[in-house]
Amino acid sequence: MDREALKRAAAARAIEEIRDGMVVGLGSGSTAEIAVELLAARGPRIVGVPTSQRTAGLARSLGIALASLDDQPELDLVIDGADQVERGTLNLVKGLGGALLREKLVASAAHRMIVMVDDSKLVERLGGHTPLPVEIVAYGWRSTLRRLERAGLRPTLRRTAGDPFVTDGGNYIADCMLEVVGDAAGLERELSAIVGIIETGLFLGLASRVIVAGPHGVEIIEP
Ligand code: A5P
Repeated sequence: MDREALKRAAAARAIEEIRDGMVVGLGSGSTAEIAVELLAARGPRIVGVPTSQRTAGLARSLGIALASLDDQPELDLVIDGADQVERGTLNLVKGLGGALLREKLVASAAHRMIVMVDDSKLVERLGGHTPLPVEIVAYGWRSTLRRLERAGLRPTLRRTAGDPFVTDGGNYIADCMLEVVGDAAGLERELSAIVGIIETGLFLGLASRVIVAGPHGVEIIEP
């Protein structure tokens, strides 16, 4: 099965959990977009809280009612993809699509977070070959990258067509290569204390269920 089909299988399983009347966080990235399309096609009437302008545009075009996080500060659940899922803890790395801050705000406001991935995202330990995206203040970004280096990471400013990539919140992203992460909570604490950092792509203790689609079917993992 190709990756697209696996993403579709995971997304289809996730939206089975959605009922009429729910307030649902709509994640960002290709898997979340498939889920939004399936949701619109299958028709539970929900209010969606999008985690990016891109997801908002897609959901609106498909006729899904939308609200902001300020309108709906408490959500029934959020459905979202991930870049890495640590099998034992369900800790995540997110943000390769650039929406990590809003994704984390929405996930933190939801009673449940359902993560949809293909099996290539499942790892024993976070880090390693996948960079950790970190959202940083645009002002003084070079200094912030130096501080990240001093913390032992290898950061690169994310760019599109040569210019800094700008998030929906008007910030920059540093993609940080790092060793395999042994103590994710310690790393999160250390990074959060660095001036210039707004949020990291570490999502710790947020996922309540991970739906993993592989060639042999769909596996559901819970903490
Ligand atoms: C968006 O910023 C990310 O957190 C995505 O959720 C993550 O990159 C997964 O995206 P795909 O579903 O496209 O792999």
